Amino acid sequence: MSNVLRIALADPVDASREAIKRQLLAIETIWLEAECSRYEFFPDVAEQSNPDACIVSLDADEAKGLSLIERLRRELPQSAILAVSSKTDGQIILKAVRAGAREYLPYPIDPEDLASALERIAEIRFGTSHGGARGSKVVAVAGATGGVGCTSLAVNLACILASHPGNTVVLVDLDLAIGDADVFLDTIPDYTLLDVAENVSRLDFQLLKKSLTKHSSGLYLLPRPVELRDLALITPESLRRVFGLLKATFSHIVLDLSKGYTETDMAALEFATDVLMVVQLDLPCLRNLVRIQLSWDEQEALGEKLRIVVNRVGLESGQIKLKKAKETIGREIFAQIPNDYRTMVEMRNNGIPLIDLAPKAPITKAMQELAERLTAPPDAAEQVSEEGEEDASATGNSWFCFWPKSK
Ligand SMILES: Nc1ncnc2c1ncn2[C@@H]1O[C@H](COP(=O)(O)OP(=O)(O)O)[C@@H](O)[C@H]1O
Ligand SMILES: [Mg+2]
Repeated sequence: MSNVLRIALADPVDASREAIKRQLLAIETIWLEAECSRYEFFPDVAEQSNPDACIVSLDADEAKGLSLIERLRRELPQSAILAVSSKTDGQIILKAVRAGAREYLPYPIDPEDLASALERIAEIRFGTSHGGARGSKVVAVAGATGGVGCTSLAVNLACILASHPGNTVVLVDLDLAIGDADVFLDTIPDYTLLDVAENVSRLDFQLLKKSLTKHSSGLYLLPRPVELRDLALITPESLRRVFGLLKATFSHIVLDLSKGYTETDMAALEFATDVLMVVQLDLPCLRNLVRIQLSWDEQEALGEKLRIVVNRVGLESGQIKLKKAKETIGREIFAQIPNDYRTMVEMRNNGIPLIDLAPKAPITKAMQELAERLTAPPDAAEQVSEEGEEDASATGNSWFCFWPKSK
């Protein structure tokens, strides 16, 4: 789970419930898991959704509200309880705290009071401050040319991550027009990204998971829309909201991007914690990579997230030497995936991920290593360097230099 706080709200008064809800929805790191207008139904609602914190308003019926807090403390000891009331006298505060409330917020709630109360709860819950280091890992897989192997990598990486106990992983197909991640996983999804994007404000955790297709590897898939005419309905804004929801639900999010570098791709790149740029060692591909890097230079954050993955290493014809490629790219190679067409085609045709189809194959091992390097703590993530190769930092007078000459 990420460091988003999941909240359930109990308030029988419509006006204040709506007002508190609006305040909660405005906080990015909060996910409103459930709301309830009846004190008596709330324990069931909370039990099902298992929130990090419960907010109980006492204004509708103080006695019922206090006994609800007592019950929650007993039955959901892992959830922090926030009491809300328009009364501010010491007696009621004391009663609420004795019943089990960790925080007391006078209504109308001051946004700063709410934020700092939630911050304290997050610190206890996650052992770190809100927005700290426990967020989800979001890996965007982009490519420098068509057919370079993005989906092959995204699907297999996601399955490898999902095979680790404790990880919850979703793969989102953002190649909105011609994405084929569902084919790779041999699934026929009931819902797509469009359904989730259109209903994002109404979805809770349970509904979200029902809208995703679960693969036998444990991986959840959110496929691209079915109809081409629906693509315009997926906007960067709707996508950002979907990302927020996914971040609150999954420990790892893998995004398979299109090669169009569209607005939605850019929203995904912004959201990503790591961008894997898949290249092959041929001239057009490396040229594109240099162009992409140049246009990203103005956006420092993007450059820092960029990791180069060389795919189909060992493919004979017309391949450029890795050393030469490194000089051209001007940065280290993060991972190398060997060429293995037969295994890849079998994987795709049968919809079986590499870890199941060919667990011992070098291509699978390379992807597992990539996954490990990606999830290792930052200082452990060393870059790969070619064996026996001298320092490739000098670009020299290579004919193969795409970098504009410094003036
Ligand atoms: N490491 C590899 N070795 C051999 N073939 C590969 C490798 N990676 C990808 N392929 C093949 O390349 C083709 C394009 O791969 P795909 O993942 O669909 O690319 P993209 O998503 O970038 O368009 C597929 O036929 C796939 O089987
Ligand atoms: Mg693809």
